[in-house]
Amino acid sequence: MTQSVIWDEQAGAFRVRGFEEASSVLRGSGWSSDPANSPLLPADLAQVPSSMMLFTDPPDHTRLRRLIAPAFSARAVEAFRGRVASVVESCLDQLEDAFQDRDSREPVDLLADFGYLVPLAVIAELLDVGVEGAQVFLEQTPDLVRLLEVDADQEDLRLAVTAGIEVTLFLTPILASRKGGDGEDFISQLLRTELTVDEVMATCVLLLAAGHETTANLIASGGLALMRHRDQLPALQENPARAVDELVRLEGPVKIIGRTALTDHDLGGVRVGAGQAVLIELDQVNRDERRWTAPERLDLTREGPGNLGFGTGIHFCLGAALARLEAEEALGRFFGRFPQAQPLTDPPTWRRSSTFHALAELPISLHQREHPLVRGVA
Ligand code: HEM
Repeated sequence: MTQSVIWDEQAGAFRVRGFEEASSVLRGSGWSSDPANSPLLPADLAQVPSSMMLFTDPPDHTRLRRLIAPAFSARAVEAFRGRVASVVESCLDQLEDAFQDRDSREPVDLLADFGYLVPLAVIAELLDVGVEGAQVFLEQTPDLVRLLEVDADQEDLRLAVTAGIEVTLFLTPILASRKGGDGEDFISQLLRTELTVDEVMATCVLLLAAGHETTANLIASGGLALMRHRDQLPALQENPARAVDELVRLEGPVKIIGRTALTDHDLGGVRVGAGQAVLIELDQVNRDERRWTAPERLDLTREGPGNLGFGTGIHFCLGAALARLEAEEALGRFFGRFPQAQPLTDPPTWRRSSTFHALAELPISLHQREHPLVRGVA
């Protein structure tokens, strides 16, 4: 049985792999998400804007979350389903066109040509920033997400800050023009709360960093898992919400989240002292055999218990309902249209990241045996 909490000398942190222990950290008090408290990160990271709720502790976090959360409630998000469905359909049309045109270009890529485009179009629409905004977001998010690497180094930090500045420069005139207005877009809604303009800006940047890459990867890695387990496609169509939950459990895009102890704790019989860091390995936690039978098996008909792919406690993913909705619509419609899709290289290339479970690319064929490279691929 996997040990629930172990000390990793090289990382200088405890690794938490048990579901109970992870939940107790994420739901308990005496733990901090503020990079300024972490012994793992370069001192400069303490300069990360403290108005990003992901990096704040109560009471600051409580105030920010209370003001921002209503726009992300399950009800608010459900009202968006029709728009997400039409975004997905138009991305699928583009994908099919690109596939038809494949003799004159590279094979289509489930990550670049579909996975990224769905959350990009959704966030651009939510913030109402048009095609120009979508272009800026697409260019900047790969660097911006380096901010979230649990072991970010100086280079990660430099690239993330530069990308953050680019996004901020693009959004500044937009925020200025919407301040005091009665627009229905998300930025206008946030500007009408008690948040300062700086906090609204930090929230927009955070939404991009936390929401784009993650959702793109759930769609692509989830798609790969389904192409490898085609027998499960009926279960996806029968109950997309339950299916996406199981994909989040086994293919969750966030592998690790960190916390720093503010007080001494006993974690699964291991003493964690104040000032020490823990790395919660969500991919291991979500395979804890004390919680799931045959945890490695992908079973889209599995009923509960819940997993920690979106975290839990006060920092539970604010975008979980939106991400689930996007993945349900994207995967349900993709396989409804292309049930024979298959990867052109298996195993594919994964991105090197300690925090994200993310593909580097996923070239695919949309129809069985249509692409010459497909022959021979299982
Ligand atoms: C499959 C997609 C996603 C996954 C796996 C994911 C995962 C997570 C996890 C694990 C956390 C908790 C971090 C912690 O406790 O330190 C989190 C927080 C957060 N996520 Fe997501 N996320 C996803 C999509 C999104 C989307 C689409 C948005 C918004 C558009 C979003 C916005 C946020 C925000 C704002 C937080 C911080 C919440 C807080 O600090 O209170 N996420 N996410």
